[in-house]
Amino acid sequence: MTSTVDRDRRIAELSEQLIEIEERLIPTGLHVFGRAPQADGRADLLRMVASFDRPEQGARALTKLIAAAFGIESYDDLLQQEPIGESRELIDGIVKGAIAQLCESGVDAASSFLKSRANVEGELSRPTFELLANINSQLDSNNEIESLMRALRGEYVQPGPGADIVQNPLVLPTGRNTHAVNPYSVPSHAAFIRAKPAADALLQRFRDEHGRYPRALAMILWGLDNIKSQGEGVAQALWLLGVRPTRDALNRATDVEVIPLSELNRPRIDVVMTVSGIFRDLFAPTLGLLDKAVRTVAELDEPFEMNYVRRNIQEKLAADGASFDDAVTRVFSNAPGNYGTNVNFMVMQSAWQDEAALGDLFVTRKCFAYTRDSEGRTIEGREAPQLMNEALSQVEATYQNIDSFEVGITDVDHYFEYLGGISRAVETRTQSRPSIYLCDSLSPQTKIRSLEETVRLETRTKTLNPKWYEGMLQHGFRGVAEIENHVTNTFGWSATANAVDPWIYTEISNTFLLDEPMFERLRELNPYSLESLAKRLLEAHERGYWNPDEEILEKLRGLLEHLQSVQTSA
Ligand code: BEZ
Ligand code: MG
Repeated sequence: MTSTVDRDRRIAELSEQLIEIEERLIPTGLHVFGRAPQADGRADLLRMVASFDRPEQGARALTKLIAAAFGIESYDDLLQQEPIGESRELIDGIVKGAIAQLCESGVDAASSFLKSRANVEGELSRPTFELLANINSQLDSNNEIESLMRALRGEYVQPGPGADIVQNPLVLPTGRNTHAVNPYSVPSHAAFIRAKPAADALLQRFRDEHGRYPRALAMILWGLDNIKSQGEGVAQALWLLGVRPTRDALNRATDVEVIPLSELNRPRIDVVMTVSGIFRDLFAPTLGLLDKAVRTVAELDEPFEMNYVRRNIQEKLAADGASFDDAVTRVFSNAPGNYGTNVNFMVMQSAWQDEAALGDLFVTRKCFAYTRDSEGRTIEGREAPQLMNEALSQVEATYQNIDSFEVGITDVDHYFEYLGGISRAVETRTQSRPSIYLCDSLSPQTKIRSLEETVRLETRTKTLNPKWYEGMLQHGFRGVAEIENHVTNTFGWSATANAVDPWIYTEISNTFLLDEPMFERLRELNPYSLESLAKRLLEAHERGYWNPDEEILEKLRGLLEHLQSVQTSA
């Protein structure tokens, strides 16, 4: 029998999870080129924008302003409290009310509302509301088609930064010529500061599960994420190694400085970095910085138990007389001029028998080392499968950041091709499944989730959420294709990482295939994607990821046959 304390704890946890799902920004429908986004969902977006301090714009987070007015010293501490307390609910409720006022009646109304409900002075809240009002009005305009026509005519298109609206509201209006970053500025000072709690939380999570630090960690770095966050992923890698970037006379981040162990207070973690082709193209100097960071740490005269990089490399040197330059190689990507892992294509085309093939393909595509030779000359993409295999054979955890509310791990096939691909490669090389984590550093509170938790969260907030799929179905043919994509991407997480609970497949079947009115709707809109969806579910069963009652399988087979016969006769 469970005790009352136990019961209360479980109810508190459940309520936590419901709030997490509720608070998630859920994209409703696709962006249509040239069309301004609809008003619904905008309040949610503004609320998310308003939950961060923005010193560049002189705007404080509304949550923090209210907390301060209530005499609460740190809103961040409230965020850490579990279960969520009354004060946080109260504050969140006032923020919602203020944003509703702003959307309906403007800055003055919103700022009076905040004064009356929380006694926040107008002069404090005004800059934030003005920023939000500005974002709101920019969301109404859309220059995309006009800009495209200008570009096609060879005319000037205004530049604008590339980011997520929440991360950098200056990305609006859309329809500008997106520019990236100066690679030498990465990681920015702010990114390095933001990266510390993420790196700490990642290690803490691993310790909670294993009681110790990971021997080595494999991390995925993407180009666009590091543009948007000014190199937060890069900065996390540096924190794990225990170094900070230093700048030269031209203010370029070209070197690192060792953080003393007495300050770091934990071992230096060995990090194997696999970067995308886009990252490699955009951040050549950063590849050099990361390589330098590993070499610097490997050469420190520190005890093995505090420096895992040195330990792993010295053990390797002692075991088979490898050269230091080979043993220290930790930065991998595609061959020059080459992109992607192709693991996604292999999964989508069902072109594999054994899951190990998916990890092997990852290594075949990504085993090009970006490092230096013993004379310090840059080596751009030396094919080195053995070095990558050896580096991966030490890895106990794999990791990637999620950088956008709009694009999560089941929206596109790229997360499973990368994080899934490397996890499978690690599993076959170590004979043990790594712990797989994602970092959601977008929310005001950095959150590390396991892959399994993230798949569940994405499934509940998107694939199985009527708000999400009805939004998609407004787009007819394309909407059904999106649903099918989500199912295939979910399946990709089974294939690469066994990370999908069977109930997810059951609920997908119930929602889209076994519900007759829904089945008919989808068939009308796009029978081709519906057929692929049915096939994918049956494949999930055939490959052992889902074992429903025979009755369900029979029904699915019947529906698939029906779809195929209608299409042949059409
Ligand atoms: C990147 O930004 O590096 C990236 C984006 C999409 C897919 C793969 C990589
Ligand atoms: Mg793509």
